[in-house]
Amino acid sequence: QSTVTSRKGSQAPTPPQSVKGIGKKVAKPDYSENKIVLAMVGLPARGKSYLSNKLMIYLKWLEYDVKVFNVGQLRRTRARQKAEQYSFPLIISTILQLNLASRSGIKEDHSANFFSSSNPEGNLSRDRLAEDSLEMLITWLKAGGNVGIHDATNSSRDRRAKIEARVAKEPGMMLIFLESICDDPSVIAANVALKVSSGDPDYKDMSPQEAKADFLRRIHEYEKVYETITEPHLSYLRITNVGREVTVSRINGYLSSRIAFYLMNLHLKPRSIFFSRHGESQYNVEGKIGGDSLLSPRGMEYAKALPALIKDNIGDQPLTVWTSTLKRTLQTAEDLKYTKLTWKSLDELDAGVCDGMTYEEIEEAYPDDFANRDEDKFNYRYRGGESYRDVVVRLEPVIMELERQENILIIGHQAILRCLYAYFHHLPQDDLPYIKIPLHTVIKLTPKAYGCDEERYAVPISAVDTHRAKPKAPEIVVQPSTSRQYFTSEGMTV
Ligand code: F6P
Repeated sequence: QSTVTSRKGSQAPTPPQSVKGIGKKVAKPDYSENKIVLAMVGLPARGKSYLSNKLMIYLKWLEYDVKVFNVGQLRRTRARQKAEQYSFPLIISTILQLNLASRSGIKEDHSANFFSSSNPEGNLSRDRLAEDSLEMLITWLKAGGNVGIHDATNSSRDRRAKIEARVAKEPGMMLIFLESICDDPSVIAANVALKVSSGDPDYKDMSPQEAKADFLRRIHEYEKVYETITEPHLSYLRITNVGREVTVSRINGYLSSRIAFYLMNLHLKPRSIFFSRHGESQYNVEGKIGGDSLLSPRGMEYAKALPALIKDNIGDQPLTVWTSTLKRTLQTAEDLKYTKLTWKSLDELDAGVCDGMTYEEIEEAYPDDFANRDEDKFNYRYRGGESYRDVVVRLEPVIMELERQENILIIGHQAILRCLYAYFHHLPQDDLPYIKIPLHTVIKLTPKAYGCDEERYAVPISAVDTHRAKPKAPEIVVQPSTSRQYFTSEGMTV
């Protein structure tokens, strides 16, 4: 048996004897008891899909099984399928200058008329779509899902009562309504513009002006019959102008409260999140992992260059800098003249008995461990240390706080920044431990309605490459949506 214990911060001792059979795989938590139907409520262009999507990413990051059932998408899929059934006759009809689909009433009108409450056919069709989508959601929950999000307007008491009656038939299933109210004209206008410009299939045959007019008429049709949630017995959350006010009614249970807390922290104010690893450390130069070493001379140069880069980017806007408790991040932040906060949760992944060793030393001393880590890096837990999965769990309060805050710069570590980056870009667990977060590079994320824009600024101060690719597997390269060159005072570019 090996007698090596954790050696954080100390020099690596002589490598221990080779030990076999000690790789540890961490199992996914058992969430099978959680079955929540989360039914959205709100007029069109009130950010329902935005909230559904954010919540899905957050809960999936925490390993809950979550799926959004968007009724609009179901409507469009069905309309397309119907049209395709007639595709062959359509070819002939085109030759013959006929249009069988529209002649036989197959091509549904999905303009604002379809959404009018005084259109009985439209009402029937929309009710059926909402019911079918709920059925699909319930089937999916029964098959093992945890949170199914019913993304529809569900804007009348009658519709909500139907959903309630249906979910009540399923033992162990909980129903929560999430109403999104928005009376901020600029947010509504931005949502309308997004819908019209996003290549939405509803508007593919219309000019942008016609599309906008039609969508505004659709909203008006819904407004005529909209009933905000007043049913006192329902479990619901009401969000007014995302970030301004949240009403929580009859919410209990761990997961529901967590959902409520997350939604309470969201806001839509424009802001940027910057990630940077600490400057190159002495351990990085020696190829050692973990530890608490100081910066190398090149790392110190990076710490000196960082304030100008940040100032260049943020101007006079307020910014808060978060670091870990480890010396290399504190040293990197030293010259940044902003409010600073030190988080224990931002400390690098704990490599346990391997702390302070090089990858070669680990491979020699713990061949089985080393192979197991390569085989499933996300789940592998170092002896006496952590797995990436453990790190994701400990970063949850950081994510929550990041959602609440405005401009933040995190000076962190390779594994930590991979986890945070994966949350903002919604990247899968298997890819997460291989994301490239190079030294001496600032990554700027700008949250948008759907996802994040990214810019990378590579500072022209060389550093070692600490990325170890998955053996024999293709490299994960995440393409930033935009990338820029950074110019230093010497006029250098990278
Ligand atoms: O090598 C630098 C480092 O931050 C180590 O301290 C840490 O153990 C490692 O990166 C994490 O990366 P990986 O999971 O790829 O080994």
